[in-house]
Amino acid sequence: MGFWKSLFSGTDASPAPKAAPMERYVGDEADDRATTNRIFFSTERDLDLYELEELCDAVGWSRRPLRKVKKAIQHSFLVVSMWEQRGAQRRLIGFSRATSDHAFNATVWDVVVHPDFQGKGMGKALMKYMIKKLRGEDISNITLFADPQVVNFYRNLGFMSDPEGIKGMFWYPD
Ligand SMILES: CC(C)(COP(=O)(O)OP(=O)(O)OC[C@H]1O[C@@H](n2cnc3c(N)ncnc32)[C@H](O)[C@@H]1OP(=O)(O)O)[C@@H](O)C(=O)NCCC(=O)NCCS
Repeated sequence: MGFWKSLFSGTDASPAPKAAPMERYVGDEADDRATTNRIFFSTERDLDLYELEELCDAVGWSRRPLRKVKKAIQHSFLVVSMWEQRGAQRRLIGFSRATSDHAFNATVWDVVVHPDFQGKGMGKALMKYMIKKLRGEDISNITLFADPQVVNFYRNLGFMSDPEGIKGMFWYPD
């Protein structure tokens, strides 16, 4: 656990390799590349949808039609994927996206960390990265819909439920 946390909090001075679409490089350049795991964030949307489906399967989410997932990603304001790199191999280990009016509001969707990587600070790092990106676009109102079992995960990150008594409301087809 401490190992992953130290990767995130360490001096991430090394830029992502130019050829890769990765936005952030975390790790120690001096480490042995063949044996050291590195974690990257990417805002690239051209994801392998089957790999994303595998990640969602791993946390037990119901499958969604891939053509709709593709459309949702294309039309999202921000898409963040999190990758583990071991040598030349990359593995998708986390994902999240946000929709937005591009001015005031953004809503975060589909926050997921692979079970192999949960409980190691990855979800927190992913959400902090999302928030940083959205704040960088001058979005001030960030909302999300939390499953009951993860409310405290989001509370820890500063999200409030029902601020000033405001209730989220839903309409579903009959
Ligand atoms: C929810 C999820 C993204 C959290 O990711 P994670 O990498 O396990 O979380 P982290 O290790 O970064 O935890 C960050 C903090 O939140 C806490 N936390 C993590 N999961 C929690 C949960 N379910 N309930 C309450 N607190 C939680 C951790 O204890 C940690 O606290 P700390 O900062 O005091 O140490 C991950 O468990 C997941 O993908 N779950 C399945 C999919 C899901 O439910 N997504 C959310 C849909 S709304």
